[in-house]
Amino acid sequence: MEKPISFDKILILDFGSQYTQLIARRVRECQIYSEIHPYDISVEKVRSLSPRGIILSGGPASVYEKDAPRCHPALLRMGIPLLGICYGMQLIAQLLGGEVAHSEKREYGKAKLTVDRSGTLFKGLGGKGDPLTVWMSHGDHVKTLPPGFHSIAHSKNTPFAAIEESHQRIYGLQFHPEVVHTQRGLDLIRNFLFHICRCSHRWTLRSFLEQVSHDLKQKIQEGKVICALSGGVDSTVVALLLHRVVGDRLRCIFVNNGLLRKEEASQVVNLFRHHFKIPLTYVDAEHSFLQRLKGVVDPEDKRKKIGKEFISVFEKEAQKIGGVKYLAQGTLYPDVIESVSSKGPSATIKSHHNVGGLPEKMKLKLVEPLRELFKDEVRQLGKVLGLPDSIIKRQPFPGPGLAIRIIGEVNRERLEILRNADEIVMEEMTRGHFLTRVWQSFAVLLPVKTVGVMGDERTYENVIALRVVESQDGMTADWVRLPYKILEHLSNRIINEVRGVNRVVYDISSKPPSTIEWE
Ligand code: XMP
Repeated sequence: MEKPISFDKILILDFGSQYTQLIARRVRECQIYSEIHPYDISVEKVRSLSPRGIILSGGPASVYEKDAPRCHPALLRMGIPLLGICYGMQLIAQLLGGEVAHSEKREYGKAKLTVDRSGTLFKGLGGKGDPLTVWMSHGDHVKTLPPGFHSIAHSKNTPFAAIEESHQRIYGLQFHPEVVHTQRGLDLIRNFLFHICRCSHRWTLRSFLEQVSHDLKQKIQEGKVICALSGGVDSTVVALLLHRVVGDRLRCIFVNNGLLRKEEASQVVNLFRHHFKIPLTYVDAEHSFLQRLKGVVDPEDKRKKIGKEFISVFEKEAQKIGGVKYLAQGTLYPDVIESVSSKGPSATIKSHHNVGGLPEKMKLKLVEPLRELFKDEVRQLGKVLGLPDSIIKRQPFPGPGLAIRIIGEVNRERLEILRNADEIVMEEMTRGHFLTRVWQSFAVLLPVKTVGVMGDERTYENVIALRVVESQDGMTADWVRLPYKILEHLSNRIINEVRGVNRVVYDISSKPPSTIEWE
């Protein structure tokens, strides 16, 4: 049997910080494999994973609260290098005999950090008289250091902003090196990975490809797989990956759920049948999806109903093919983390249909080869697999489709309005050369009507909201400052050309605290 390739691994224990995934991303940007685990992971499990280092994330709790999340204290004595960030540092301090106190004033935002001893963690960073800007977000602070520790950096309000116990290789940072506002934050993480944990076996997409192909072969053996295609980059990459591994035991299914953008269905069919020459079953399920969505307005309810309908369609198709054991999906890491709070206390935000909305008694077993990857990593993998740029650069499109961009009830008439507005958004974004420069650009149909005047007539019609965001991985996002000229074209065209719309507004919210999709 082929031996799976090995690479160094970093564990990230999730204490509920909104930045936990960002830590994982940053580690992977350094080409070191990282996995997020719940904070209460067992010592045996850690031993079996044999990580090169452990990072304890931040979190909203206070270590002195009765029910505060704590990792097993023995993890701190395993000889594995540790880096505690914010709450993680406070927990390390408390577990090893230091003292943590409540601060009079919560410190939030940028602070100037003075490095007092550059040592290994700050190697090459923030020399004397050259403070670093760092991002703080804490209400507690370490008041007394545990035995053997000393302070290596301070800020005006935080004397112990960075601490170390270099013999046991245990480090703590009161600020967040993973956020972009922290100057040289990535270099700090790099120092931890390469100089403290001494990671050397790099994790690249080629090594991922070898590993995942090996795992898929082991799992699927001689079984048949169906792959749910959406036309987006994720499921396309899954299909190509599986095709390489199982060949014609893969059957791709494309379900037209009636919630797609204009022309989307025919583009997908062409791409697979004619460009990749991979067999594809096309299922027209518009009617059954719209029936299920009748009268449904609650966002989670919509997602779950759509998830259920998808599965029932796939199961029927699988029965027709016969002998199918597996269903492959393009689930990504952010979907897994955002949908399953059992991985740690990070709150459940939305049930993404391809994870949280799955009915429990599904008869097919799931194959999700991308569940460890972030979006930009999937795009890079697509390149390795030879996908054309036109697909790699496609904007993400949610599984529940236009249904979660129609606030309120979904029906044919409202879908038609949104689809027409959406087509104009795509055209104008392409014309202004913004389509591939932004993360997503789309229209949302609101459940309000407003008064307008067209010619001499009073109108009472729908409002379209435009959402254009930039993002690296969908975890955080900022609204795009589109040129007025493009906004003007968009608004004029939508109001003039889309019957049933008399007002267009622009969404200027960032994620967090908003999300990208409206539902
Ligand atoms: P939110 O709205 O959570 O979206 O900020 C983050 C990214 O995920 C996409 N998204 C989904 N993708 N199934 C998917 O495959 C879903 O149910 C789903 N919901 C949101 C969204 O378009 C954005 O890129």
